[in-house]
Amino acid sequence: MDTSTGKRKDRGVERVLIEADAVQTRIRELAAELDAIYQTETPLLIGVLTGAVTFMSDLMRAMDAELKIDFMAVSSYGDEVTSSGAVRILKDLNENIEGRHVLIVEDIVDSGLTLQYLLDVLQRRNPADIKVVALLRKLKPDAIAVQADLVGFDIPDEFVIGYGLDYAGRYRNLPYIGVLDPSEIELTKSKTAILSDTPPLQD
Ligand code: IMP
Repeated sequence: MDTSTGKRKDRGVERVLIEADAVQTRIRELAAELDAIYQTETPLLIGVLTGAVTFMSDLMRAMDAELKIDFMAVSSYGDEVTSSGAVRILKDLNENIEGRHVLIVEDIVDSGLTLQYLLDVLQRRNPADIKVVALLRKLKPDAIAVQADLVGFDIPDEFVIGYGLDYAGRYRNLPYIGVLDPSEIELTKSKTAILSDTPPLQD
C-alpha cells in the first residue's frame, strides 16, 4: 500500500497504470456496447488463455446478452518481455464455430501477431463473423494493423502486469494494471540463467 495516496501498489510494480475501479468501469462500457451488437445473436466468447481469464470472467458477467464461452491457448516462445512471433496452438476450442458469431476476448494486443494468427486460424473454420475485444492495446509504431473492434485502453509501449497479465507466471492476481519494475526483469533473468537454459513460456 502506498500510504501517500492510500492506493495499493505491490512489489515488482513500478507504477499503477490503470486502477482496479477504472478497469471495472471500462468493462461495463464494453459490455454495454457488446450487448447492443449481439441483440439477436448468441455470440461464442473465445477467451485466450491464460491472460484473458480475468477479463473474460468480468466481461461476460457484465453482459446481458445470451452467450456461450470457450477457451483457446496459444503460445509463443521468447525472452520474458518480448514475443518471438512464432505462435502455436496449445489448446484448441471444444466448440465447432462454423456459422457462429465469434467474439475473441484478448487481454492485450502487443505486436498483434498472436491476434492475427488467431484470426487466420478461426476464419478458416467458416464462422458467421468474428469480432475482437481487447482490454489493452499497446501504442507501438511497429505493431501490425490487426482487427480490434473494441479496445478497453490504449496504453504506452511498456511491459504491464496484473488483472490476468503475468511476468514469468507471476502478478496475474493484481486487481489493477501496473507497469513492471525493470529491476524485476534483471532479477528474474539472473535466477532463470542459474536454474535453466529454457526461456519461460509467453502467454
Ligand atoms: P503479441 O505481441 O500481440 O502477439 O502478444 C503476445 C502475447 O504476449 C499477449 O497475448 C500477451 O499474453 C503477452 N504480452 C504482450 N505484452 C504483454 C505485457 O505487457 N504484459 C504481459 N503480457 C504481455
